[in-house]
Parts: sequence; C-alpha cells; structure tokens
Amino acid sequence: MPERIVLETRGLTRVFGDRVLVRALDGVDLQVAAGEILAIIGPSGSGKSTLLNLIGALDTPSSGEVIIDGTPLTKVRNIDRFRGRTIGFVFQSHNLLPTLTARENVEVPMYELRLSGRARRARAVELLDLVGLTKRADHLPSQMSGGERQRVAIARALANEPAIVLADEPTGNLDSATTADIMALFARLNHERGLTIVLVTHNTEVAAAAQRVITIRDGKIQRDVTMGSEIERELLLFKSSVLGQAILRGDTLPPEIAAAAPALQHLLEQV
Ligand SMILES: Nc1ncnc2c1ncn2[C@@H]1O[C@H](COP(=O)(O)OP(=O)(O)OP(=O)(O)O)[C@@H](O)[C@H]1O
Ligand SMILES: [Mg+2]
Repeated sequence: MPERIVLETRGLTRVFGDRVLVRALDGVDLQVAAGEILAIIGPSGSGKSTLLNLIGALDTPSSGEVIIDGTPLTKVRNIDRFRGRTIGFVFQSHNLLPTLTARENVEVPMYELRLSGRARRARAVELLDLVGLTKRADHLPSQMSGGERQRVAIARALANEPAIVLADEPTGNLDSATTADIMALFARLNHERGLTIVLVTHNTEVAAAAQRVITIRDGKIQRDVTMGSEIERELLLFKSSVLGQAILRGDTLPPEIAAAAPALQHLLEQV
C-alpha cells in the first residue's frame, strides 16, 4: 500500500524582524507519512520550534506552504477550528490549567465538539486510562508529578482525535526514567492508534526512539535519516557519547581503539 502523506511542507521559509532579518527557516521541504514518528534535532536557535509552529498553524510562513492531509493551510477558512480538530500539541511545560482537575483539563479541547457533558467526561476518563492515569482523574496539576502532568497534557492533545501530534521538547523537564515512560507512551499510541507524531528534542535517546530523525541547522534540513535498524539506533546513541564525539573530532585515542577509529568515524558520519 502506498504510504499516505499527512504532512508536507514546500519551500517553507520564515523570516523574523523588520530591520535586522533572521532567516529562522529557509526553504524546508518535508514529507511525513501517516503513522510516522519523526524527531527533529539540531542546535539551539536552528529553527526547530519555528518549523513546528508553522506546521501547527501557530505561526504564518514568510513564503512556502504547509499542507496537512492534502489541505494547504492557506486554503483553510477557520484556522483555529482546523487546528483544534487536526493537531494535538504537547509543549515542554505542560500548560495545564492549575484550577482544573486532570479530567477537566482533558475536556477543555472537547468544548469545540458539541458533545454532551456526560460524553465529554466519559471520553476524558477513557483518555486518562489510556495514558495510565485512571487514579489521578480528580487530582489538580499541583497534586501530580512532572511525568504525570505531561501524561495529562498528552491525553489532552488526543482529545479531538487529531491526525498529528506535535510536541516541542515534551521531555525537556523530565528525568531520564520519566522521559523513557513518555517515549514508551508515544510509541504505544503510534502503534495502537496509528498516530503521527512530530517531536522536537535535544535528547539523543528520545530521538533514537523515533523512526526517523531530521537534523536542522541554520533553518535548513541538514540530514534526514530513517532508522531502519537497531544498529542505526545504537549508532545514534554512540554518536552522542564522549567516545563517539572524540572519534568524530579525530582526537588521539587509546591504541586499542585507534585502529578501529577510521571505520567507526565513517559509520558515525552516516547517522
Ligand atoms: N518571534 C521571533 N522574533 C524574532 N526572532 C525569532 C522569533 N522566534 C524565533 N526567532 C529566531 O529564529 C531562530 C530560530 O528560533 P527557534 O525558536 O526556531 O530555534 P530552536 O531550534 O527551537 O531553538 P531551541 O533549541 O533553543 O528551542 C533563532 O535565531 C531565534 O532567535
Ligand atoms: Mg525551540
């Protein structure tokens, strides 16, 4: 079966400022297939959030276009409504409303859908079950851990059954065990529901859990790697290690490794 492209950008460009111009994004062409988990990595200021915000119609391009499920965003009449129904957002800071319980927070995006109060509640409870928070439905954000809050934010992002979830540093505030939990949850949602997930991360372990990793530098896609095998995942992890970095820099290495270094360097440059 040919893969269905749910998200496409063509020549996507965003320039900020009026006197001093910053080309935050510079002609990005990207295609994302339904059911993909795509990680976006790259240095600070390279344009990752700019790209995500344009894809999510939170910002407007200077030129180029974003096409979601075959619809160019410029053709959408009510962009807020389109966004609410098509895209779920998860941010680094969970952005939950502090005076609402977990369940009430998950219900917020559903007000657009004209469901009955009962149907809304039932759906919110179901989504909290899905993210493993059945017992926290009546807790306020202040009564939950960081990982639990982020799972509520993910349940909320799923409230309108979006085609795509966009996540900007979703594990940025979490420790490594909780980060692994959140990535396992994303992987399960992707597997069970065919959810397409685009996430920005600084964390190589998070990126290695994705099927495809693009690297952005100076507003351009520098690298686009589909993680075909476990070995590629391992290589990506190794690349960020102290030894991997030393090999890439061509540092002088202990003799037992030096012999293998050129071959390893070649491999690391591929991922
Ligand atoms: N609203 C804005 N006005 C002016 N410049 C901006 C604006 N938003 C972003 N920029 C600039 O655009 C560039 C890309 O920013 P962006 O936020 O996309 O980076 P990033 O890759 O997400 O970085 P980080 O990893 O630090 O979050 C940066 O040089 C930034 O200063
Ligand atoms: Mg950013």
